[in-house]
Amino acid sequence: MAASRTNNSPAIRFVLDGELHVVDDQQPTLTVLQYLREHLNRMGTKEGCAEGDCGACTVVLAELDGCSNGNGIRYRPVNSCIQFLPTLDGKVLFTVESLKKIAGGSLHPVQQKMVDCHGSQCGFCTPGFVMSLFSLYMMNRSPSAADIRYALSGNLCRCTGYRPILAAAEQMYELDDPSPADFEAELMSALNDIRVDTDKELKKDGFHYVAPCSVDSLAKSCAAMPDATILAGGTDVGLWVTKHYKHLQNIIFIGNVAGLNQINVTDEFIEIGAAIRLSDAFEALLIEYPDFEEIVRRFASPPICNSGTLGGNVANGSPIGDSMPGLIALGAEVCLQRGDETRCIALGDFYLDYMKVDLQPGEFVRSVRVPRAKVNVVFRSYKISKRFDQDISAVCAAFALEIDNETIAGARVCFGGMAATPKRAAACEKALTGTRWDSQAVENAVVALHTDFEPITDMRATGEYRQQVAGNLLRRFFAETSDLCTESGEKDAVSVWDYAEQRA
Ligand code: FAD
Ligand code: FES
Ligand code: FES
Repeated sequence: MAASRTNNSPAIRFVLDGELHVVDDQQPTLTVLQYLREHLNRMGTKEGCAEGDCGACTVVLAELDGCSNGNGIRYRPVNSCIQFLPTLDGKVLFTVESLKKIAGGSLHPVQQKMVDCHGSQCGFCTPGFVMSLFSLYMMNRSPSAADIRYALSGNLCRCTGYRPILAAAEQMYELDDPSPADFEAELMSALNDIRVDTDKELKKDGFHYVAPCSVDSLAKSCAAMPDATILAGGTDVGLWVTKHYKHLQNIIFIGNVAGLNQINVTDEFIEIGAAIRLSDAFEALLIEYPDFEEIVRRFASPPICNSGTLGGNVANGSPIGDSMPGLIALGAEVCLQRGDETRCIALGDFYLDYMKVDLQPGEFVRSVRVPRAKVNVVFRSYKISKRFDQDISAVCAAFALEIDNETIAGARVCFGGMAATPKRAAACEKALTGTRWDSQAVENAVVALHTDFEPITDMRATGEYRQQVAGNLLRRFFAETSDLCTESGEKDAVSVWDYAEQRA
């Protein structure tokens, strides 16, 4: 498996089935899926939607685990249909064909159990399911039923039905791992051989792709190419190419920038670098804020969260991004850099208008800073969409109340999907502040929400529905956080204080 070329050439390199692949003559926006099918004739990986939604194109990337200082290997399922080929630099790629090799010519336990459990009919979705399961098999030897369902939440099957596939997932551990004894050592050696520690560049037919590896060289690249598209995980940008057929002439890829691939925890905040993948960012956020669970669980699929970044979610300026309401309610800041100059601003102030953020030419997002949890702050964030998994929010809400001596000392309420930007509900916050957390306060705040927003009607929801659901989410927050009832059925404000104390 070790890479056969180990010099210090700045070529973009990845390993597939033990073979080194050098990316030097391809257009930067060629997708991994196109490369596999059209250049390597590996037809196992399928194209369904070409937008990260169906999972037919799922492949697995092995990489040094940045979060354990490069001492471990992480297997990540990703959607090859929206992943640009040069972003594989420094990684090992596994496709469905690789499994036969790992299993010494037989079916891998994942595949064997799909056969035994009748987990496939037309077979179109099957390689994608198999690769999601392969990643689960390599990363988690005793997943819960919920872990299995989550691992498969990015894979759609139109004909088999999910029960046999879930059965295959449960039973795949009954068979021995067929990987050769030196599998991980070889993998580690290959990853070390192709480790990325220098800036990379690719030019082809007028397309220019640069991948700096330090914050300094990123700042220089952004200054030199202020009109370039900044590419992080590509889960938005990839679709501009595969769905909108955009020609992205100049691209600056930030995934290799060591300084942006860090999560720093201080006494005041958790600072999440702009290149940190959503899956890792969420892991860190959940430790501090377990009540982010609903958003994390319902934010896209594992393959998307393994490519997409929190920085990209914040930077794309969408009014319906799912992380922003929660982050704004928690008082997060976004830290920006342009040349040598850095600034940190309240995340809420970053959004100027519909899809317009406060970024100057040549400026980029360095990190998102989330304040550490406070004992007396009660927080929840909710997502409303037509489908539970893999859907875009109609409304996303977040509430953070600071309770002091049974009174709301401070309220931060933020919604997505209610205005042209993610937006705090100033009138609602005012109605809550200084009151007891009781049902009267809630109803007053629901009325105030009508002053805050005039939501539009679109294909996801009517304005009237959005307004009603926003109020209902505030009522739900109240119902969930005021767990003691008096005999009359009225909620008692003390319970919120208790709730905060329980969390301490
Ligand atoms: P990219 O696609 O790389 O970039 C997005 C934008 O941000 C681009 O304009 C880019 O230039 C800019 N950008 C990125 N990084 C920086 C930086 N450091 N500095 C300046 N600009 C930068 N989103 C949700 O909120 N909730 C969901 O449930 C959800 N589900 C999805 C499901 C699917 C199938 C897909 C394809 C997308 C989904 N998304 C969802 C959208 C997307 O995954 C997120 O917005 C993601 O966080 C974007 O991050 P990225 O790293 O992929 O960004
Ligand atoms: Fe549907 Fe890639 S082809 S997710
Ligand atoms: Fe046909 Fe899943 S087996 S789509």
